[in-house]
Amino acid sequence: MSDLTKYIQLIKSGEVVAFPTETVYGLGADAWNPSAIQKVFEVKGRPSDNPLIVHISNSKQVADFALEIPDSATKLMETFWPGPLSLVLKKKPEVLDAVTAGLDTVAIRMPDHPLALDFISQTGPLVAPSANTSGKPSPTKATHVQQDFGKDFPVIDGEATKIGLESTVVDLTQPIPAILRPGSISRKQIEEDLGTEVEESFFHHTEKPRSPGQKYSHYKPNAGVRWLKENEQPENPSSLYLLISERESGSNIINYNEDLNKLAAELYDRFRQADHESFKEVVLERFEDYNSEIASALLNRINKSIL
Ligand code: TXA
Ligand code: MG
Repeated sequence: MSDLTKYIQLIKSGEVVAFPTETVYGLGADAWNPSAIQKVFEVKGRPSDNPLIVHISNSKQVADFALEIPDSATKLMETFWPGPLSLVLKKKPEVLDAVTAGLDTVAIRMPDHPLALDFISQTGPLVAPSANTSGKPSPTKATHVQQDFGKDFPVIDGEATKIGLESTVVDLTQPIPAILRPGSISRKQIEEDLGTEVEESFFHHTEKPRSPGQKYSHYKPNAGVRWLKENEQPENPSSLYLLISERESGSNIINYNEDLNKLAAELYDRFRQADHESFKEVVLERFEDYNSEIASALLNRINKSIL
Protein backbone atom coordinates (compact mmCIF):
# COMPACT_ATOMS: atom_id res chain seq x y z
CA MET A 1 0.00 0.00 0.00
CA SER A 2 1.50 3.36 -0.99
CA ASP A 3 1.83 6.02 1.68
CA LEU A 4 -0.84 8.15 0.00
CA THR A 5 -3.28 5.22 -0.01
CA LYS A 6 -2.57 4.74 3.69
CA TYR A 7 -3.31 8.40 4.41
CA ILE A 8 -6.51 8.29 2.35
CA GLN A 9 -7.64 5.28 4.40
CA LEU A 10 -6.89 7.16 7.61
CA ILE A 11 -9.11 10.07 6.54
CA LYS A 12 -11.87 7.68 5.53
CA SER A 13 -11.70 6.00 8.92
CA GLY A 14 -12.19 9.36 10.65
CA GLU A 15 -8.57 10.17 11.52
CA VAL A 16 -6.63 13.39 10.91
CA VAL A 17 -3.67 13.66 8.50
CA ALA A 18 -1.41 16.65 7.87
CA PHE A 19 -0.70 17.57 4.24
CA PRO A 20 1.18 20.30 2.36
CA THR A 21 -0.48 23.18 0.52
CA GLU A 22 1.13 26.13 -1.25
CA THR A 23 0.63 28.31 1.85
CA VAL A 24 1.29 26.22 4.99
CA TYR A 25 0.71 22.60 6.03
CA GLY A 26 -2.91 21.80 6.87
CA LEU A 27 -4.38 19.38 9.40
CA GLY A 28 -6.95 17.54 7.30
CA ALA A 29 -10.14 15.80 8.38
CA ASP A 30 -13.28 14.71 6.52
CA ALA A 31 -15.48 17.81 6.28
CA TRP A 32 -18.60 15.67 6.77
CA ASN A 33 -17.42 13.67 9.81
CA PRO A 34 -18.16 15.40 13.16
CA SER A 35 -15.91 13.17 15.27
CA ALA A 36 -12.98 13.61 12.86
CA ILE A 37 -13.45 17.38 13.10
CA GLN A 38 -13.59 17.11 16.87
CA LYS A 39 -10.14 15.45 16.69
CA VAL A 40 -8.79 18.45 14.74
CA PHE A 41 -9.78 20.78 17.58
CA GLU A 42 -8.32 18.40 20.18
CA VAL A 43 -5.01 17.83 18.38
CA LYS A 44 -4.47 21.58 17.87
CA GLY A 45 -5.89 22.69 21.21
CA ARG A 46 -7.99 25.08 19.13
CA PRO A 47 -10.85 27.12 20.65
CA SER A 48 -14.11 25.66 19.36
CA ASP A 49 -15.47 29.08 18.33
CA ASN A 50 -12.82 29.43 15.59
CA PRO A 51 -14.22 28.07 12.29
CA LEU A 52 -12.33 25.94 9.76
CA ILE A 53 -11.68 26.33 6.04
CA VAL A 54 -13.09 23.60 3.77
CA HIS A 55 -10.50 22.48 1.19
CA ILE A 56 -11.78 21.16 -2.13
CA SER A 57 -10.18 19.72 -5.28
CA ASN A 58 -12.86 20.74 -7.79
CA SER A 59 -14.84 24.00 -8.08
CA LYS A 60 -18.10 22.07 -8.41
CA GLN A 61 -17.75 21.02 -4.76
CA VAL A 62 -18.46 24.61 -3.67
CA ALA A 63 -22.14 23.93 -4.30
CA ASP A 64 -22.12 21.16 -1.66
CA PHE A 65 -21.30 23.75 1.03
CA ALA A 66 -22.48 27.17 -0.22
CA LEU A 67 -26.14 28.14 -0.22
CA GLU A 68 -25.56 30.53 -3.10
CA ILE A 69 -22.57 31.31 -5.28
CA PRO A 70 -22.53 35.05 -6.06
CA ASP A 71 -21.00 36.29 -9.34
CA SER A 72 -18.13 37.75 -7.34
CA ALA A 73 -17.26 34.24 -6.09
CA THR A 74 -17.41 32.75 -9.58
CA LYS A 75 -15.09 35.47 -10.82
CA LEU A 76 -12.53 35.07 -8.05
CA MET A 77 -12.61 31.28 -8.33
CA GLU A 78 -11.90 31.47 -12.07
CA THR A 79 -9.00 33.85 -11.59
CA PHE A 80 -7.35 32.61 -8.41
CA TRP A 81 -8.20 28.93 -7.93
CA PRO A 82 -6.47 26.71 -7.33
CA GLY A 83 -4.66 29.18 -5.11
CA PRO A 84 -4.23 30.92 -1.75
CA LEU A 85 -7.69 32.52 -1.58
CA SER A 86 -10.44 31.40 0.83
CA LEU A 87 -13.98 32.56 0.05
CA VAL A 88 -16.51 33.08 2.85
CA LEU A 89 -20.01 32.30 1.54
CA LYS A 90 -23.45 31.70 3.06
CA LYS A 91 -23.52 28.06 4.14
CA LYS A 92 -26.00 25.33 3.38
CA PRO A 93 -27.93 24.14 6.45
CA GLU A 94 -26.33 20.68 6.30
CA VAL A 95 -22.76 22.00 6.72
CA LEU A 96 -21.66 20.86 10.18
CA ASP A 97 -21.65 23.40 13.01
CA ALA A 98 -18.23 22.10 14.03
CA VAL A 99 -16.85 23.38 10.69
CA THR A 100 -18.33 26.87 10.90
CA ALA A 101 -18.34 27.24 14.69
CA GLY A 102 -22.05 27.88 14.46
CA LEU A 103 -21.76 30.79 11.97
CA ASP A 104 -24.13 30.90 9.01
CA THR A 105 -21.16 31.22 6.64
CA VAL A 106 -18.46 28.81 5.48
CA ALA A 107 -14.92 29.46 4.20
CA ILE A 108 -13.80 27.41 1.16
CA ARG A 109 -10.61 27.17 -0.86
CA MET A 110 -8.93 25.02 -3.50
CA PRO A 111 -5.21 24.74 -2.70
CA ASP A 112 -2.61 25.02 -5.45
CA HIS A 113 -0.46 22.01 -4.63
CA PRO A 114 -0.37 18.78 -6.66
CA LEU A 115 -0.17 16.51 -3.59
CA ALA A 116 -3.03 18.32 -1.83
CA LEU A 117 -5.25 18.20 -4.93
CA ASP A 118 -4.51 14.52 -5.52
CA PHE A 119 -5.19 13.74 -1.86
CA ILE A 120 -8.45 15.70 -1.63
CA SER A 121 -9.72 14.33 -4.94
CA GLN A 122 -9.52 10.88 -3.33
CA THR A 123 -10.77 11.72 0.17
CA GLY A 124 -13.44 14.30 -0.67
CA PRO A 125 -13.49 17.78 0.90
CA LEU A 126 -11.34 18.25 4.00
CA VAL A 127 -11.37 20.84 6.73
CA ALA A 128 -7.79 21.94 7.25
CA PRO A 129 -6.56 24.49 9.75
CA SER A 130 -2.84 25.11 9.83
CA ALA A 131 -1.18 21.98 11.26
CA ASN A 132 0.36 23.61 14.33
CA THR A 133 -0.49 23.61 18.01
CA SER A 134 -2.70 26.67 18.63
CA GLY A 135 -0.49 29.67 19.34
CA LYS A 136 2.57 28.31 17.48
CA PRO A 137 3.68 29.56 14.07
CA SER A 138 2.02 27.74 11.16
CA PRO A 139 4.11 24.85 9.79
CA THR A 140 5.87 25.34 6.46
CA LYS A 141 7.74 22.01 6.57
CA ALA A 142 6.70 18.46 7.49
CA THR A 143 9.25 18.56 10.32
CA HIS A 144 7.40 21.52 11.88
CA VAL A 145 4.23 19.42 12.08
CA GLN A 146 6.21 16.70 13.86
CA GLN A 147 7.75 19.24 16.25
CA ASP A 148 4.21 20.08 17.39
CA PHE A 149 2.41 16.72 17.15
CA GLY A 150 5.19 14.15 17.55
CA LYS A 151 7.40 12.29 15.11
CA ASP A 152 4.90 9.50 14.47
CA PHE A 153 2.11 11.89 13.49
CA PRO A 154 0.79 11.14 9.97
CA VAL A 155 2.00 13.86 7.61
CA ILE A 156 2.29 13.79 3.84
CA ASP A 157 5.76 15.20 3.14
CA GLY A 158 5.69 17.73 0.33
CA GLU A 159 8.84 19.71 1.15
CA ALA A 160 8.80 23.37 2.22
CA THR A 161 5.68 25.32 1.24
CA LYS A 162 6.13 27.94 -1.49
CA ILE A 163 4.30 30.93 -0.01
CA GLY A 164 4.74 30.41 3.73
CA LEU A 165 1.82 32.60 4.92
CA GLU A 166 -1.82 31.51 5.21
CA SER A 167 -4.38 32.22 2.47
CA THR A 168 -6.19 35.51 1.94
CA VAL A 169 -9.69 35.20 3.45
CA VAL A 170 -12.37 37.27 1.69
CA ASP A 171 -15.96 37.60 2.87
CA LEU A 172 -18.44 37.74 -0.02
CA THR A 173 -21.61 37.64 2.08
CA GLN A 174 -21.93 41.43 2.52
CA PRO A 175 -22.69 44.11 -0.11
CA ILE A 176 -19.02 45.17 -0.06
CA PRO A 177 -16.51 42.30 -0.14
CA ALA A 178 -14.12 42.38 2.80
CA ILE A 179 -10.68 40.91 3.32
CA LEU A 180 -10.73 39.30 6.77
CA ARG A 181 -7.16 38.00 6.64
CA PRO A 182 -4.52 39.34 4.24
CA GLY A 183 -2.51 36.79 2.27
CA SER A 184 -0.36 36.61 -0.84
CA ILE A 185 -3.33 37.53 -3.05
CA SER A 186 -3.59 41.26 -2.34
CA ARG A 187 -6.51 43.63 -1.99
CA LYS A 188 -5.41 45.30 -5.25
CA GLN A 189 -5.52 42.01 -7.15
CA ILE A 190 -9.00 41.25 -5.82
CA GLU A 191 -10.29 44.75 -6.57
CA GLU A 192 -8.91 44.58 -10.10
CA ASP A 193 -10.52 41.22 -10.67
CA LEU A 194 -13.93 42.24 -9.28
CA GLY A 195 -13.85 45.76 -10.65
CA THR A 196 -15.18 47.05 -7.31
CA GLU A 197 -13.83 48.38 -4.08
CA VAL A 198 -12.98 45.86 -1.36
CA GLU A 199 -12.76 46.60 2.36
CA GLU A 200 -10.06 45.46 4.72
CA SER A 201 -11.39 44.38 8.06
CA PHE A 202 -8.43 42.82 9.82
CA PHE A 203 -7.02 45.64 11.90
CA HIS A 204 -9.86 46.02 14.37
CA HIS A 205 -9.92 43.85 17.44
CA THR A 206 -13.56 44.57 18.09
CA GLU A 207 -15.85 42.80 20.54
CA LYS A 208 -17.29 40.67 17.79
CA PRO A 209 -14.75 40.32 14.99
CA ARG A 210 -16.04 39.27 11.57
CA SER A 211 -13.51 36.45 11.52
CA PRO A 212 -13.21 34.70 14.89
CA GLY A 213 -9.53 33.93 14.20
CA GLN A 214 -8.75 37.66 14.46
CA LYS A 215 -9.11 37.68 18.21
CA TYR A 216 -6.54 34.96 18.82
CA SER A 217 -2.84 35.64 18.98
CA HIS A 218 -1.21 33.39 16.36
CA TYR A 219 2.24 33.22 14.97
CA LYS A 220 4.06 33.75 18.21
CA PRO A 221 7.46 32.21 18.92
CA ASN A 222 8.65 31.92 22.52
CA ALA A 223 11.38 34.42 21.67
CA GLY A 224 10.23 38.04 21.62
CA VAL A 225 9.73 39.66 18.23
CA ARG A 226 10.43 43.36 17.62
CA TRP A 227 11.48 45.82 14.94
CA LEU A 228 15.08 46.91 14.56
CA LYS A 229 15.41 50.46 15.91
CA GLU A 230 16.68 53.29 13.80
CA ASN A 231 20.49 53.30 13.81
CA GLU A 232 20.58 50.05 15.83
CA GLN A 233 23.41 47.74 14.81
CA PRO A 234 22.74 43.98 14.59
CA GLU A 235 25.36 43.05 17.16
CA ASN A 236 23.62 41.16 19.95
CA PRO A 237 24.61 37.46 19.75
CA SER A 238 21.41 36.37 21.49
CA SER A 239 19.19 38.00 18.82
CA LEU A 240 18.28 36.56 15.43
CA TYR A 241 18.27 39.42 12.91
CA LEU A 242 16.15 39.31 9.76
CA LEU A 243 17.34 42.21 7.63
CA ILE A 244 15.89 43.65 4.44
CA SER A 245 18.54 46.06 3.21
CA GLU A 246 21.93 44.92 2.05
CA ARG A 247 24.33 44.60 4.97
CA GLU A 248 26.73 42.07 6.35
CA SER A 249 25.33 38.60 7.06
CA GLY A 250 26.36 36.25 9.85
CA SER A 251 25.20 33.12 11.63
CA ASN A 252 22.52 35.15 13.45
CA ILE A 253 22.04 37.78 10.70
CA ILE A 254 19.95 36.76 7.71
CA ASN A 255 19.77 39.14 4.78
CA TYR A 256 16.72 39.18 2.53
CA ASN A 257 17.90 41.92 0.15
CA GLU A 258 14.39 43.35 -0.35
CA ASP A 259 12.96 39.97 -1.33
CA LEU A 260 9.71 40.01 0.69
CA ASN A 261 8.48 36.76 -0.89
CA LYS A 262 11.54 35.00 0.45
CA LEU A 263 11.07 36.51 3.91
CA ALA A 264 7.40 35.43 3.87
CA ALA A 265 8.35 31.90 2.81
CA GLU A 266 10.89 31.63 5.65
CA LEU A 267 9.32 33.72 8.44
CA TYR A 268 7.69 30.91 10.43
CA ASP A 269 10.73 28.67 9.96
CA ARG A 270 12.90 31.48 11.39
CA PHE A 271 10.52 31.86 14.35
CA ARG A 272 10.87 28.15 15.06
CA GLN A 273 14.64 28.32 14.55
CA ALA A 274 14.81 31.13 17.13
CA ASP A 275 13.15 28.90 19.71
CA HIS A 276 15.24 25.83 18.88
CA GLU A 277 18.47 27.74 19.08
CA SER A 278 17.28 29.61 22.20
CA PHE A 279 17.57 33.10 20.77
CA LYS A 280 16.05 35.68 23.12
CA GLU A 281 14.46 37.66 20.33
CA VAL A 282 13.86 37.95 16.60
CA VAL A 283 14.63 41.45 15.36
CA LEU A 284 13.21 42.46 11.99
CA GLU A 285 14.23 45.40 9.88
CA ARG A 286 11.27 47.54 8.78
CA PHE A 287 10.46 47.45 5.09
CA GLU A 288 8.57 49.30 2.37
CA ASP A 289 6.15 47.35 0.24
CA TYR A 290 8.44 47.38 -2.86
CA ASN A 291 5.20 46.94 -4.86
CA SER A 292 5.12 43.39 -3.57
CA GLU A 293 1.66 41.75 -3.26
CA ILE A 294 2.74 39.95 -0.07
CA ALA A 295 3.83 43.07 1.88
CA SER A 296 0.49 43.61 3.66
CA ALA A 297 0.18 39.97 4.76
CA LEU A 298 3.79 39.90 5.95
CA LEU A 299 3.31 43.08 8.00
CA ASN A 300 0.08 41.66 9.47
CA ARG A 301 1.78 38.44 10.63
CA ILE A 302 4.81 40.26 12.04
CA ASN A 303 2.61 42.76 13.91
CA LYS A 304 0.57 39.88 15.36
CA SER A 305 3.73 38.19 16.61
CA ILE A 306 4.88 41.44 18.25
CA LEU A 307 1.55 42.06 20.04
O1 TXA B 1 -3.67 28.93 3.92
C1 TXA B 1 -4.56 28.55 4.68
O2 TXA B 1 -5.69 29.07 4.70
C2 TXA B 1 -4.24 27.37 5.61
C3 TXA B 1 -3.97 26.14 4.76
C4 TXA B 1 -3.78 24.88 5.55
O3 TXA B 1 -4.97 26.00 3.78
N1 TXA B 1 -5.29 27.16 6.56
C5 TXA B 1 -5.50 28.00 7.60
O4 TXA B 1 -6.55 27.63 8.43
O5 TXA B 1 -4.84 28.99 7.79
P1 TXA B 1 -6.73 28.22 9.89
O6 TXA B 1 -7.82 27.40 10.47
O7 TXA B 1 -5.44 28.23 10.61
O8 TXA B 1 -7.28 29.67 9.67
C6 TXA B 1 -8.61 29.86 9.18
C7 TXA B 1 -9.00 31.31 9.33
C8 TXA B 1 -9.27 31.67 10.76
O9 TXA B 1 -8.80 32.99 10.98
C9 TXA B 1 -10.80 31.62 10.84
O10 TXA B 1 -11.32 32.47 11.85
C10 TXA B 1 -11.18 32.09 9.45
O11 TXA B 1 -10.21 31.52 8.59
N2 TXA B 1 -12.52 31.58 9.04
C11 TXA B 1 -12.88 30.30 8.78
N3 TXA B 1 -14.19 30.22 8.48
C12 TXA B 1 -14.68 31.48 8.55
C13 TXA B 1 -15.98 32.06 8.37
N4 TXA B 1 -17.04 31.32 8.06
N5 TXA B 1 -16.13 33.40 8.53
C14 TXA B 1 -15.04 34.16 8.86
N6 TXA B 1 -13.80 33.68 9.05
C15 TXA B 1 -13.61 32.36 8.91
MG1 MG C 1 -3.84 28.77 11.90
